[in-house]
Amino acid sequence: MGMGVVEVLRAAWIAGILPMIIASLPCSWLASFHGVVLGFAKRGKIMQPASYKFTVPQKFFCHFYVVAVVWTTLLLLTTWVYAYRMVPLVSESDLYSTLTSQLTGGSYIFSFNKSRLTPVEHRYKVWQSVFLLLLLEVQVLRRLVETIYVFNYSPSARMHIFAYLSGLFFYTAAPLSLCGSYAPEVFNFAANKVAEFIVKGRSRMPAIEFDLLESVSSLLKLGWFQCIGAAIFLWGWIHQSRCHAILGSLRERRDQVDEYIVPHGDWFEIVSCPHYLAEIVIYAGLLIASGGSDLTVWLLIGFVVANLVLAAAETHRWYHRKFDNYPSNRFAIIPYVC
Ligand SMILES: NC(=O)c1ccc[n+]([C@@H]2O[C@H](COP(=O)([O-])OP(=O)(O)OC[C@H]3O[C@@H](n4cnc5c(N)ncnc54)[C@H](OP(=O)(O)O)[C@@H]3O)[C@@H](O)[C@H]2O)c1
Repeated sequence: MGMGVVEVLRAAWIAGILPMIIASLPCSWLASFHGVVLGFAKRGKIMQPASYKFTVPQKFFCHFYVVAVVWTTLLLLTTWVYAYRMVPLVSESDLYSTLTSQLTGGSYIFSFNKSRLTPVEHRYKVWQSVFLLLLLEVQVLRRLVETIYVFNYSPSARMHIFAYLSGLFFYTAAPLSLCGSYAPEVFNFAANKVAEFIVKGRSRMPAIEFDLLESVSSLLKLGWFQCIGAAIFLWGWIHQSRCHAILGSLRERRDQVDEYIVPHGDWFEIVSCPHYLAEIVIYAGLLIASGGSDLTVWLLIGFVVANLVLAAAETHRWYHRKFDNYPSNRFAIIPYVC
């Protein structure tokens, strides 16, 4: 089952990335393919009213984050309890072993060779999945609040039904990609607990012991890759929340719900889509915190980059078409590159 989950996830990410890469190639004979891919990806201001077939309101974005919060919370809690009960990372030998492994460029840092994991490295990787899910939880909770309270979606803003379904898929597959290799053992653990509960009944079930302080201290002992990854994640997280607050503030008056304005402030001074850039920084933080040894996490960030670069390029062109005085020094998404 383990290989099954991981393989399905990888195949899905590749199937999502390839059309976007092909559509981005600068070949004139690919123009119509580019149009088709963009037609599925367009939303909000870059979607023309003429292409309103098979669309849903853009404010349905909040459905993505409801799914993301429920699913990420479930995975986080079960993986955390599993790690605490079955693969604790607390003994001196564990710490010595993981530390030595990191200092000597251990086999699990930026290497795809998972089969060489020792039992101690395996424990470490399970705790690392808990850490990654915790970071993702912090991100999707903020995004849920923003879609409800910060953004003022225009009543006419739409997205293609395909983009809507892809978004639902994304927020199911992304949390799973951060713990996919260990998902089967976590599911087995949870299934056994549920079966035990059904057979024994609530009164005869042993209480689940869970010391929050002890398990948080295990997370704090993970290592430098997690510290650096979390710092990069936080940097992107803070800038994305600032840029979203700026976008939300553009339509504070009731009569402005359908209006588009040139945003200013924070990373908007250098790129047209700083919130997309911040999203890439957030996922880069997750990749670094994962140690870079899991191909599934690389494919996840590949999908995020391909998707957001495509949307940012179109948004940048839209700003230039719509506003004559649009700042000429802004790039689309990556400063000084594109
Ligand atoms: N991980 C991924 O693969 C992925 C994919 C997609 C999005 N996201 C993230 O989700 C977040 C939102 O994405 P999005 O595509 O919905 O962003 P968006 O199209 O920029 O829209 C965000 C909100 O801001 C409003 N807005 C945008 N530009 C405006 C302007 N110039 N004037 C006035 N209002 C403006 C939009 O209004 P309208 O209601 O009129 O559109 C909408 O309410 C981003 O941070 C992005 O990184 C992530």
